[in-house]
Amino acid sequence: MNRQLRHRLTVALDERSYDIHIGSGLLADLPALLGRAGGADALVVSNTTVGPLYGPAVVERLQTVYRKVVRIDLPDGEAHKDWTSLNRVFDRLLAESCDRRTTLFALGGGVIGDMTGFAAACYMRGVPFVQLPTTLLSQVDSSVGGKTAINHPLGKNMIGAFYQPLLVVADLATLDTLPQRELSAGLAEVIKYGPIADADFLDWIEANLDALLARDKAALAHAVKRSCEIKAWVVGQDEREGGLRAILNFGHTFGHAIEAGLGYGEWLHGEAVGCGMVMASELSARLGLMPAAFVERMRRIVERAGLPVAGPASLSPARYLELMRVDKKAEAGEIRFVVIEALGRAGMRGAPDELVAQVVEACTAR
Ligand code: NAD
Ligand code: GLY
Repeated sequence: MNRQLRHRLTVALDERSYDIHIGSGLLADLPALLGRAGGADALVVSNTTVGPLYGPAVVERLQTVYRKVVRIDLPDGEAHKDWTSLNRVFDRLLAESCDRRTTLFALGGGVIGDMTGFAAACYMRGVPFVQLPTTLLSQVDSSVGGKTAINHPLGKNMIGAFYQPLLVVADLATLDTLPQRELSAGLAEVIKYGPIADADFLDWIEANLDALLARDKAALAHAVKRSCEIKAWVVGQDEREGGLRAILNFGHTFGHAIEAGLGYGEWLHGEAVGCGMVMASELSARLGLMPAAFVERMRRIVERAGLPVAGPASLSPARYLELMRVDKKAEAGEIRFVVIEALGRAGMRGAPDELVAQVVEACTAR
């Protein structure tokens, strides 16, 4: 295994290009990593779990490059990814007389990253923001690529904007305090990059899964780096999801149906994606694209990562179909699935309802 512990990558998007720094202890180096990005004011947006853990050190470091540094801790959880939390950020920015040279720092997982990015896109029609992701999921996926959003009662991530950060700093040391269930959820998004883009990476994940689960820093550094490289490559070609970017949603169509069907928060997003990848692999096999052995391989990897491999018994195939028709990828009611066409290559397909129902049935614990 590559024992290198620090990596720097670039997301190439012309004038909106930015760097991703990956390594252990990087939050202490924030002033140097910011380079010329320092300025007048900074608002660190975190939550009541992560803020007390890492907020004081981040604020202290930022005080060496910003005139004024303020921190706000929002309530923790997907249920608070809403207008009320967003307005609390705006209230604080206005109360502190923050002008358009203010930089927002998202210190937390995907919920904080998505909300802070959206706040930055809106405040004074756009201020810079920096991602400081502290979950594995946010380090390998949500902090990169510029999708920002809040939830609406009628749909997850339905109100948002494409808005790229100035910089991403993924400090692997923050993963030491992450609950094991959240680590497994993040592994789902790591695993996803293998079948969709890099067969060798899937081999590597299989060989290093125990090290990843044990939070070995070199293994984590490689997993985050390779995941971000693949995501940066995809986003660099299709920033606004005109086509290719949709492959990043492998397992997500089935997964979103599980999340919505059970009620958000019952299963973690990554858990639903893990099970959704098994279903999407089964669909790929039933469409004649992949051998049955591939489905078994995916099932084993997902299970070893500590993720569910069978859908909840309470959800019928008809309910999945109903929920999947309102997915953002559905076109005029036709559900579009990310399928694996060859190991390391994904595509988009429709499928007959009966076949999808058979897939759900075959992957559900009854
Ligand atoms: P999260 O942000 O809710 O974090 C999970 C839990 O871990 C929270 O309770 C959080 O407070 C806690 N936590 C975070 N860092 C910690 C740390 N270092 N130590 C201890 N506890 C810590 O969940 P997530 O899985 O990071 O992100 C999920 C969100 O990301 C969803 O809202 C999803 O829609 C979004 N998402 C966005 C994209 C994108 O491209 N923008 C991609 C995937 C997911
Ligand atoms: N997580 C999917 C995307 O960023 O497009």
